[in-house]
Amino acid sequence: MKSSLSALNVKPKVGVVVVAAGKGERTGLTYNKVLYNIGHKTVLESVLDKLKPYADQIIIVCADFDLPKIRDIAELYDAKVVLGGDTRFLSVYNGLKALTPCDIALIHDGARPFLNEHIITECIKSALLSGSGVAAVPAIDTVKQQQDGKVTTLDRSTLYNVQTPQAFNYARIIDAYSRFDGDSATDDSAVYEYAGNRTVLVNGDYNNTKITTAADLFRLNENINIGVGFDVHRLVSGRALILGGVELSYEKGLLGHSDADVLTHAVMDAMLSAANLPDIGVLFPDDSPDTLDISSMVLLDKVKQMIDSRYSIVSVSAVIAAQKPKLAPIIPDIKASLAQRLGIEKSCINISATTTEGLGIIGNGDAIAANAACILNTKNTENNQND
Ligand code: CTP
Ligand code: MG
Repeated sequence: MKSSLSALNVKPKVGVVVVAAGKGERTGLTYNKVLYNIGHKTVLESVLDKLKPYADQIIIVCADFDLPKIRDIAELYDAKVVLGGDTRFLSVYNGLKALTPCDIALIHDGARPFLNEHIITECIKSALLSGSGVAAVPAIDTVKQQQDGKVTTLDRSTLYNVQTPQAFNYARIIDAYSRFDGDSATDDSAVYEYAGNRTVLVNGDYNNTKITTAADLFRLNENINIGVGFDVHRLVSGRALILGGVELSYEKGLLGHSDADVLTHAVMDAMLSAANLPDIGVLFPDDSPDTLDISSMVLLDKVKQMIDSRYSIVSVSAVIAAQKPKLAPIIPDIKASLAQRLGIEKSCINISATTTEGLGIIGNGDAIAANAACILNTKNTENNQND
């Protein structure tokens, strides 16, 4: 349980239930939206990253068809996995029943990755003091009610849109779920109220949206930046030929101040371009003794460090133009080498190769060139809080 709650002079035991047992049908994806990648993490992992510091135990509720993937994720967070039901209500109930008795049960949608520390602590504090703490935001749109053909306008100043997390006194929410008449409440506080309890709302955040439709997925990618890079080096005798950190066996190698790894140079420039930073010619001048004969993978580490705090790498794509040697057999090794160095999945890197049909300095075997593109995702910061 995180120290930001220690001002209360109590250390509540918090059990977290993350529901992820839906199908995500409204997104139009062919798989559950909680497994959609934001950067190189799934939506569910983004949720768990935020909740883990506050949790004494985590239960992830999932459907049987997602069990293998969710189990792999759960292992990373020391979380327990249980199966959900046909409705969100049944899934939450299964999750609550799987908790070891604790002080506070905090329920969150696995499809709501933008929660922040502030909301989590406010929910827990309120649940400690009053039995419940439910994230909500004042309604923005006017809400109408239509009944038997008659339309009335509700007083917007009294209306709130309810979100998750929702935190409750553990014993009371378990009791409320066991007494609820039906199996289809879409909101946990409604179940809590049904059992005669009083819901307390705390400030949610307009940014704490649930991923529901294809448009929500599209918005996830709003923070992406694309960069491109290009480099060319002369091929000469007496030098090693290194591409993407992999040394190839060939009669010639690339000439340069560093190891002249033309592919890695293009990749670095693509990353820097996407991050709006100066290129490698500026950052690592070719008259500096520090970079003489240096491995370009060391320079790649430095570029990654420069972007790491603000961006995650979504994908890297590159094409190498070389008449010779034949590159296809070595491309899997090059992909693995770059993926490992960049800390991303191999599936996020694509490398292809082409000849130039014998044309120009590449075609006559005097040079190798590389073009690269990189997509970076701006990391979410905590600056959208709603105090
Ligand atoms: N959920 C669940 N069990 C269900 C239905 C939903 O655990 N039987 C979870 C979802 O995984 C999601 C949250 O409840 O994290 C909110 O539900 P919703 O947005 O409706 O998600 P889905 O049911 O997955 O989406 P859809 O209704 O579009 O199929
Ligand atoms: Mg649903």
